[in-house]
Amino acid sequence: MQIIAVKDINEMSRKAAQIIREVVQNKPDAVLGLATGGTPEGTYKELVADYREHGTSYHKVHTVNLDEYAAIDPSDPNSYHTYMKDHFFKYIDLPENQRHLPNSEDISEQACARYDDLIASLGGVDIQLLGIGRNGHIGFNEPGTPLTIGTHVVKLTDSTRDANARYFGSISEVPERAVTMGIGTILKSKKIIMVVSGEEKADAMSKLVRASVPDSSFPASALVQHPNVTVIADEPALSLI
Ligand code: GLP
Repeated sequence: MQIIAVKDINEMSRKAAQIIREVVQNKPDAVLGLATGGTPEGTYKELVADYREHGTSYHKVHTVNLDEYAAIDPSDPNSYHTYMKDHFFKYIDLPENQRHLPNSEDISEQACARYDDLIASLGGVDIQLLGIGRNGHIGFNEPGTPLTIGTHVVKLTDSTRDANARYFGSISEVPERAVTMGIGTILKSKKIIMVVSGEEKADAMSKLVRASVPDSSFPASALVQHPNVTVIADEPALSLI
């Protein structure tokens, strides 16, 4: 695992965007695994700025998102469908039928399996962008989730619902379940970049740096098994190391 230490979230966003842009430039039909949350917002801003300035095209790209709340209308302002449209998709030339997110309405096992099949049929993810939850979750793989499974439905922990309540107004409005790529799905990506910013992630970051074996009580530790992981972390996130 390579760790790139940067000063702040702006530098982190520029670095992450640069790595993603290089993948698209080298492979115009790349499959990008994308993440939501507050941390990658600046990365999308940088990619949009690059698209406008340099015209990096997404015409042949496919995107697959990590996760989505269960039983949320895709047009809901808090859905990850809306997040992706608002932060990235509406600004670039990525055709609508090449934007893929887990199905929020059909959360059957079959629908989850179809998502993994879709990713495989696209040739797998070339680069997967990840954030990290305060409890070490990646995607919505909460502590205790087996580290080998594919896309599945999860019950969100109170810690995760509390962290995401800022978008919904109150914790009671945060959906109780979500659909997420499993860690097994994530580990199949050819390259993984994780963005980590802020003091509230310092504890998770220090556990990640110390992790030597995968441990399901801290899901991000699964990344130690992957041969091509780059973590871009800012000074506050690295403050406990
Ligand atoms: C949510 C998302 C994760 C994200 C995490 C951290 O739970 N499902 O993919 O990494 O939040 O988000 P933030 O970057 O807002 O701290």
